[in-house]
Amino acid sequence: MIAITGISSLVTNDASLERGKLGVINHAALVVGVDNKIAWTGEEINLPSEFVDIAINVDGRAIIPGFVDSHTHLVFGGDRAEEFEARMSGKPYSAGGIRTTMAATRSATNESLTINAHRLANEALNTGTTTLEVKSGYGLSVNDEARSLKVAGAVTTETTFLGAHVVPPESTIDKYVDLVCGEMLKQCAPNAKWIDVFCDHGAFDVDHARVILQAGAKAGLGLRIHANQLQHGGGVQLGVELGVASCDHCTHLNDADISALADTDGQTVATLLPTAELCTRSKFPDARRLIDAGVTVALASDCNPGSSYTTSIPLAISLAVLNMNMTCDEAVWSATAGGAAALRRTDIGALHIGAQADFALLNTSSHVHLAYRPGVKLVDAVFARGQLVAGSLR
Ligand code: NIG
Ligand code: FE
Repeated sequence: MIAITGISSLVTNDASLERGKLGVINHAALVVGVDNKIAWTGEEINLPSEFVDIAINVDGRAIIPGFVDSHTHLVFGGDRAEEFEARMSGKPYSAGGIRTTMAATRSATNESLTINAHRLANEALNTGTTTLEVKSGYGLSVNDEARSLKVAGAVTTETTFLGAHVVPPESTIDKYVDLVCGEMLKQCAPNAKWIDVFCDHGAFDVDHARVILQAGAKAGLGLRIHANQLQHGGGVQLGVELGVASCDHCTHLNDADISALADTDGQTVATLLPTAELCTRSKFPDARRLIDAGVTVALASDCNPGSSYTTSIPLAISLAVLNMNMTCDEAVWSATAGGAAALRRTDIGALHIGAQADFALLNTSSHVHLAYRPGVKLVDAVFARGQLVAGSLR
């Protein structure tokens, strides 16, 4: 067993420790068992010698659970730098840009899609992300969605079928919804854990989204929804009605949406994506309203070539604190345990005994620096399933 000692502050997210929401232990040690799960955590002074085969001293640095990024679109061809440049010159963001990436994705080989997805997953890992959810959604044909999910499956087990991203140019809404619920779902479901719909202006309305999500549930997939990103609409209410694991974006919410989410008692998480607001120059949602109402909030990157071309969860944490009224503790919790809740996982996002040993070593003594030092690389090393997978211990 490997004991990590000299930890200035260990964020466990272990509520049973009764040390606040983050379960922070100061002057801590952590032990990874032979099964690559957490075997022990506590104050170093109490570390039992039988738990120490090898000891690694991290000299007063902080350790946090690996980030759980529960919303990404890593399978795509090309980029949209020109669209970004035009947007920064005043052109508004719209769902239509997805079709640009659709064309580039359709013409990309499986190999190049896989290389690109791995490149981004590796980028994410280096900033502390140990679990990624990855969506399809830039193929928009049976074959291109099915191969996108195979590529996603090479990166993660948290794969999401997002055939209902927008209607491709060769189809009409009714025909396309039939295709998504029929042959496309049939070909994609074997490689997907979840189904998602972009329910918003320029994409799918509430009635179509309901039909698609119900078809996905029938095929055995878990449900998620892109809701209330571009304008206020019925997406969040639909998500709650269908018991989705997560309503994502939640940029435009009214009081009824917030109380509907709160009434789910954490069954439906609100996943906020502050880098999407940043990169589309949109107004940030007020996370305080959600948290004060009792809604479980996750933070994710939404990494995609259109609205949020970043894999950085530390950046999302900074923005959530600086622009969305979250506390430092809440933002770190939402990017770890919150992401796990959005994926309905209890084995990740926390460092309780028996959890998967996924954690990040910071180059500073406290997790607060993740918000306090925006844009600065603060992750020295990353462990996934007990193994050092990025950075170094020096
Ligand atoms: O989550 N909102 C829908 N999908 C992506 C953006 C896709 C794109 O612009 O390519 C999002 O922001
Ligand atoms: Fe998205």
